[in-house]
Amino acid sequence: MGKIVAAGGTSHILMSPKGCEESAARVVNGIAELGRRLKEARPDVLVIITSDHMFNINLSMQPRFVVGIADSYTPMGDMDIPRDLVPGSREVGRAIALQADEDGFDLCQAEEYSLDHGIMIPILFMGMKEIPVVPVIVNINTDPIPSARRCVALAESIRQAIEKRTPDGCRVAVVGAGGLSHWLCVPRHGEVSEKFDHMVMDELVRGNAEKLVAMGNEAIIDQGGNAGVEILTWIMAAVASEASSGEKVFYEAMTQWFTGIGGMEFHVK
Ligand SMILES: [Fe+2]
Repeated sequence: MGKIVAAGGTSHILMSPKGCEESAARVVNGIAELGRRLKEARPDVLVIITSDHMFNINLSMQPRFVVGIADSYTPMGDMDIPRDLVPGSREVGRAIALQADEDGFDLCQAEEYSLDHGIMIPILFMGMKEIPVVPVIVNINTDPIPSARRCVALAESIRQAIEKRTPDGCRVAVVGAGGLSHWLCVPRHGEVSEKFDHMVMDELVRGNAEKLVAMGNEAIIDQGGNAGVEILTWIMAAVASEASSGEKVFYEAMTQWFTGIGGMEFHVK
């Protein structure tokens, strides 16, 4: 029987620090601090719940959820990210797929998945690239986006998978990567909503993921942007880890980067 030993949420994009050097440095230091906290729990495997960016999942094939079951992954190389091989955990990926099947999900399994910045930025800047990873992808790019309720049901299934289907002593960290508020290629393009970002983090600090779930995707998108719906991944990490509370690690309203950027640690039982 394995266990979720650490969990968190983080934004998964970095851009040029030019003109915003101090806040950019706080972001980089914040992601590193989140990584330090997660690594203190000595995880054997890192499950990253994130979104794709029309690289692996595009209009030709539109699965709602994908889980990686490969022994290793080659990064896509977007944003000039080095394409050095990243170890994967087939064992935990398969455990998630099998449990999900029992729980009424038809997960798309991926033997190959090119890790884009949504996974690579967190891995690299949290200092966790040596830990075998399991990508869990939520397709927020094509309609219909999985409902918040459906996402948390999958998160609960992921916890069951780790607790029932992984080897004794398997220590797993779960990170939701995405958000915070941002509007991309739509009328409010470039806006940042600090109000939304703090609301999301404050609810998760209080262990109140359900409040965010109850909002539903329409309200999340209205208040946080079409790409702000990536916070579904934070909600999933909080629910998977049964976080009763959390702590803000960092937050910057990075208007120069067109998004609020933050990170949180979720307190696991
Ligand atoms: Fe993203």
